[in-house]
Amino acid sequence: MTQPQDDDKGTTVVEPEGFMDADVAASPQHFYRQARALASVVPGVFGPQVVRRSAVEYVLQHPKEFSSAMEAVDLGQSVPLIPLQVDPPEHRNYRRLLDPIFAPRRMNAIEEDVAAMVNERIDRFVDRGRCEFTDELAVPLPSAVFLRLVGLPLSQLDLFLEMKDGILRPSGNDLDQIQSSQKEAARRIEEYFAGAIEERRRSTGHDDDILSLCMAAEIEGQRLTDDEIVGIFFLFILAGLDTVTDSLECFFAHLARNPEHRRSIVDDPTVIPSAVEELLRWETPVTTVPRVATRDLELEGCPIKKGESVAACIGAANTDDEANPTADVVDLTRDPNRHLAFGGGVHRCLGSHLARMELRVTLREWHRRIPDYSIAPGTELVYQPGLRQIESLPLVFEPVGSSR
Ligand code: HEM
Repeated sequence: MTQPQDDDKGTTVVEPEGFMDADVAASPQHFYRQARALASVVPGVFGPQVVRRSAVEYVLQHPKEFSSAMEAVDLGQSVPLIPLQVDPPEHRNYRRLLDPIFAPRRMNAIEEDVAAMVNERIDRFVDRGRCEFTDELAVPLPSAVFLRLVGLPLSQLDLFLEMKDGILRPSGNDLDQIQSSQKEAARRIEEYFAGAIEERRRSTGHDDDILSLCMAAEIEGQRLTDDEIVGIFFLFILAGLDTVTDSLECFFAHLARNPEHRRSIVDDPTVIPSAVEELLRWETPVTTVPRVATRDLELEGCPIKKGESVAACIGAANTDDEANPTADVVDLTRDPNRHLAFGGGVHRCLGSHLARMELRVTLREWHRRIPDYSIAPGTELVYQPGLRQIESLPLVFEPVGSSR
């Protein structure tokens, strides 16, 4: 347990391990507050952790000093993760090409399909009166939506989930085994997308899915190479699936434990868009984003050395009063809500409109059909640090029959 402690002189001690501690991850807001009270930058296990809002914003807004073009994210892939591991100015070209493909209008156009997917999942357990939320909804949904966007058949869902888990939840007893199973999964994913590109070239009738759009798009008159497209889709798997899964888990765990918040969504579903923003702020499922310092510098009085890995703790920034007054209160109607849950600066999340739509639709359809629910008695939720994944989230409710 690494929640902040008072030492015998009455000074708060924030252990670097706290940022990687499962107990802290379950409810990190108090830990963040104590860390911010100490300084803008505090020691973490792998390097400095930037915790105050102004300092986190500085890191995100200054990619020349805090680069994301680093080797740190080595998951055995043979291509760089585009556009995350690309610094400006090249980065801008990729975002110009990708932003329109992930624009709100295009993402909202598949909202009805996503609602049908959510309902089809709920149908499977609604008259049982309980579900394993993680396995039965939060994990399969984002991958099913992704297959729909890429224009690949839903019959590939199991294969897709297996490849994704090979990268993000690799098996193995030691680092060597873990790295070799990740490398194997990376090879399969690269082959899978290289095959999908080939297949798309041979077939006709595809033009509006995100793979066909990436293949047709040009940067200064040049099409993307196959390697670039594979690098982009590899990143989509890393950035666009477990992030939504973990957000759904954190949201539903919060709502299951806070009946007044659940009730306000059920009574007035128009609150859902602002509730999504507030739960993203309060829960901040992606707690930190990594950078590397490109020179010796000082950040709000804290020295940082060239080459050091720096973690911008967006979870701590999101609970800092500096940008959101009464940041310690969860207010589902908060407006404006200046959270950084999707990052900030040039690398701000490409998939935020897609993620928001998936979260909104799931909250809407679930609460329409299952207004009252709680965590199964006797369950102790286990959160992972970093990406705040909940290993298992069993929910119980009155069986309500499967009519929609
Ligand atoms: C609630 C769900 C999500 C959260 C909380 C989230 C969070 C983030 C954060 C914090 C960053 C910034 C990373 C950095 O600065 O190093 C980011 C970047 C990114 N996200 Fe998301 N994300 C989510 C969903 C998605 C989805 C659905 C996609 C699907 C395409 C996606 C694709 C990306 C990409 C491609 C980047 C890199 C952008 C760039 O480097 O220009 N994300 N995301």
